Amino acid sequence: MIWDPRDIPDQSGRTVVVTGPTVGGLGYHTALELARNGARVVLAGRNKEKRKQAAAAISEELPAAQVETLPLDLARMESVRHAASAARDLGPIHLLVNNAGVMGTPLRRTVDGLELQMQTNHFAPFLLTGLLLPQLVESGEGRVVTVSSLFHRYAGHQPVDDPREAEGRYHPWRVYGRSKLANLHFTSELERRLSARGLPVKALAAHPGFAGTHLAVNGQYGVAGSGADLGSAQARRLDRMIGLVSQSAAAGARPTLMAATADLDGDTFVGPTNFLQMQGPPKVVGRSRLARDRSAGQRLWEISEGVVGMSYP
Ligand SMILES: NC(=O)c1ccc[n+]([C@@H]2O[C@H](COP(=O)([O-])OP(=O)(O)OC[C@H]3O[C@@H](n4cnc5c(N)ncnc54)[C@H](OP(=O)(O)O)[C@@H]3O)[C@@H](O)[C@H]2O)c1
Repeated sequence: MIWDPRDIPDQSGRTVVVTGPTVGGLGYHTALELARNGARVVLAGRNKEKRKQAAAAISEELPAAQVETLPLDLARMESVRHAASAARDLGPIHLLVNNAGVMGTPLRRTVDGLELQMQTNHFAPFLLTGLLLPQLVESGEGRVVTVSSLFHRYAGHQPVDDPREAEGRYHPWRVYGRSKLANLHFTSELERRLSARGLPVKALAAHPGFAGTHLAVNGQYGVAGSGADLGSAQARRLDRMIGLVSQSAAAGARPTLMAATADLDGDTFVGPTNFLQMQGPPKVVGRSRLARDRSAGQRLWEISEGVVGMSYP
């Protein structure tokens, strides 16, 4: 049976937190569809104007929607901790969607001394999820969905280097691949730990195939000091070209929505059906050999706890 957004069950009474909700991206469409089905949605993003714009766009389409915003900059661990303390007022959280991410950025270290892609895509969501876990547990039926990528197959090797140490040669796409492989290890290991402790939270992952968002342009032109800007002709050309050859952002959000709401086991990975999983309706998909290596997942977990200075239960 083909999954469709009309299969999303009633979300009334549920609180969902979606990171990276900028209009035009996958997070926005994820939040929009969850709000359409009655969820209270919390839009967690780093830019105040963009958060407001996303909230206004959802409210315009769905005047009865319950929409809130939460400041969150994953490139600063201090901001992640602030966001988690502010989120305590939300009460029980039924769903956390770790969607925000960057791709293929030039070599940058964050204020925390970590490479930008690994921090934004893996280490900061690792910390955020751990800090929100008590509220996910409190909901009695929590779920964590982390947005990975087909690029996890392009990692080259396991993401188990010490991220505080400088890499040899920096290869932005391999590092992106490793951050997305880290998303799958995180999901598998989190699911194992949750079920071993009998906690009422599931961890799943999704990937959107290839979707026409601003991810590529943001990665190439949106990073301070990268020598170009988002409004440049080059950036606009790249954005247009991606729009032409990819599926829509709304379609790209469907695997996330299926992972978030369908009756699936923990550690399920959902991606598009057609054309080498680049597009089409979502289904349960497989993952690379590296992603199935449990010992690497455990090693990454230990490294991550050390890096963020937090232990999960
Ligand atoms: N589009 C695809 O084909 C594709 C394929 C595979 C996987 N993915 C994954 O899908 C997810 C969503 O990407 P997208 O395609 O929707 O790209 P996007 O349009 O660029 O959206 C990315 C979102 O992440 C946010 N973000 C980036 N850095 C952040 C930080 N430091 N703190 C908080 N938020 C931050 C962005 O905020 P700003 O707007 O403020 O920059 C934006 O809201 C990513 O995890 C990406 O790896 C996408």
